[in-house]
Amino acid sequence: MTDEEFYKEALGVLRDAESYLLSLIGQYRDSSPIISCKSRIKSAQSMVEKLERQGFEITLQSALEKVYDAVGIRIICGFVDDVYHVSEWLENCSGIEIIHRKDYIAYPKPNGYRSLHLCLRIREGTAAGTLAEIQIRTMAIDFWATLEHKLKYKHKIPHEDLIRRELKRCADEIAATDMSMQTIRDMLADENF
Ligand code: GTP
Ligand code: MG
Repeated sequence: MTDEEFYKEALGVLRDAESYLLSLIGQYRDSSPIISCKSRIKSAQSMVEKLERQGFEITLQSALEKVYDAVGIRIICGFVDDVYHVSEWLENCSGIEIIHRKDYIAYPKPNGYRSLHLCLRIREGTAAGTLAEIQIRTMAIDFWATLEHKLKYKHKIPHEDLIRRELKRCADEIAATDMSMQTIRDMLADENF
């Protein structure tokens, strides 16, 4: 099924939501800029798979009302503090209503996944009412998550235990490195140092 066949007239609204959020994020100004920002509309196929997995009816209505990430944005920052600054800034934007905030940096998943997720509803413009998910993470974690994500699509993983253990070790080393990089930056920014 194509995206047009599944989302029908809602596809335009989802695209408006995507553009709205990208331009909102474009207004963020800080001493430490966002490194990159990616976005996507969830393909019809993965939306159907997600609705099935979560036990919802396979309808356009449940895709728009039950799933937060038909529109998904990923913001990549250099440092952990930047992740929290961007998130705070977004949480204070009047054009969006934050519905859930999931802090997997403070509370990592058992596999080592670390990111900050905002599930939100757009309040203004042509996409008003549309749900979306923004993921904010460091570039080091993004590097890890991109590799780890490949496990999801593999039916048979050779040496699975070893791979999962090694990925967890890498996630923990990345978290430690992210903290050290943050500390070094703070020390360099400190006038008295
Ligand atoms: P789904 O995981 O998407 O079914 O939704 P959820 O309601 O469980 O939300 P959650 O916050 O767990 O995940 C939302 C999105 O975050 C996922 O679709 C992925 O893009 C990303 N994500 C969550 N957990 C992981 C993970 O362990 N590894 C990677 N690589 N990405 C993850
Ligand atoms: Mg999940």
